[in-house]
Amino acid sequence: MQIPSVAETTSPSASVSSSTLVSRATGASSAGAGSRFVRACLRQPVDRTPVWFLRQAGRYMPEYMAVRKHHTLLEICKSPEIAAEVTITAAEKLGVDAAIIFADLLLPFEVMGLDFEFVAGEGPMVHKPVRTAEDIAALRTDRAADLGYVAEAIGKVAAHFRQPRADGDQLGIIGFCGAPFTLASYMIEGGSSRNYVETKTLMYRQPAAWQMLMEKLNLVLTEYALQQVEAGADVIQIFDSWAGALSVADYREFVLPATAALVRAVQGHGVPVIYFGVDTASLLPTMRETGADVIGLDWRVPLDAGWEAVGHNRGVQGNLDPITLFAGPELLRQRVREVMEQAGGRPGHIFNLGHGIVPGTPVESAQRVVEYVREFCAG
Ligand code: CP3
Repeated sequence: MQIPSVAETTSPSASVSSSTLVSRATGASSAGAGSRFVRACLRQPVDRTPVWFLRQAGRYMPEYMAVRKHHTLLEICKSPEIAAEVTITAAEKLGVDAAIIFADLLLPFEVMGLDFEFVAGEGPMVHKPVRTAEDIAALRTDRAADLGYVAEAIGKVAAHFRQPRADGDQLGIIGFCGAPFTLASYMIEGGSSRNYVETKTLMYRQPAAWQMLMEKLNLVLTEYALQQVEAGADVIQIFDSWAGALSVADYREFVLPATAALVRAVQGHGVPVIYFGVDTASLLPTMRETGADVIGLDWRVPLDAGWEAVGHNRGVQGNLDPITLFAGPELLRQRVREVMEQAGGRPGHIFNLGHGIVPGTPVESAQRVVEYVREFCAG
């Protein structure tokens, strides 16, 4: 298979300026220049480093568990009123600078014709995994409109946060979708995986089918992201959670072209893109070639080294080890300080964890991190 070359975008934000954001034809929230989170995504100066957390609405939070007692995960995702409430509650309780819409990476599977469920303790399960070129040919790309419930939830969150907060800042609203590789891995493996044997086998042995799968995913994801932007998402985060399973050569040959195409398509909707994966230290220079405005760093790479690898003309998001939230206040404060020092006050840093908050995490720890970031910025 020929190695496609991906043109390096030197202006990663696809010329997204604050004015584009404010004037984009959505009529919805348009935080744009009034949001320190959005400004940081565009590497513009901010009054202080914005902070939010991956999986900030999740099982560690009693308010979420109270809702989960009465509804399944999918019911919450598909009820815009409840999804919005869960999103808003988490953001307000933590005092963060951005709210990520409550949804799940796998929702697009349903409109593509794949049934799945979340099995307690085991994670997602796709009932009939995709294994052949015929399976891929059968995937539908014409029903992305049926994902409109996510956009509807974003509309409600945007309406709630339309007013600036007490400090004059407008909370950033994050929409999201999976990246083609990570979604393909769930489709092909049928769930979580250790070695990605089925995924890589299909990628290596049936490159044309793999290519078709990437393209079909991108069609659906591009439309899905547009719905979210039109409803009021200020930024789209693309989760490539399991890209770290790939060698640099495989990432470059089989994954980068489709991912870069998705990033460009989403930027074409007029918003910055955050591109995130786990265990990506060696992939960072290649991930940068997607053209994403901001690259999410996991905690295994020191933030300064990660930013160097990504290049200082991109933003970075991260990268406290989520398990640090189980440490005592002193060590936690020290680790937050280290991340902030490594960021060195450069524009384009968004404070976050290196991956999602895990169940059992003390909520006070997450709240403390927000305080520590503010304290550090205040000098
Ligand atoms: O505030 C938030 O970030 C919550 C919104 C959110 C969820 N899933 C809800 C959810 C987001 C951003 C996701 C993305 C997601 N989903 C990813 C990418 C993020 C990452 O962690 O890298 C992935 C890989 C998935 C797929 C998925 N969904 C898995 C692997 C699991 C099981 C995880 C487990 O620990 O059991 C889920 C379920 C899920 N999605 C939960 C939540 C809050 C927990 C289960 C529940 O509430 O029943």
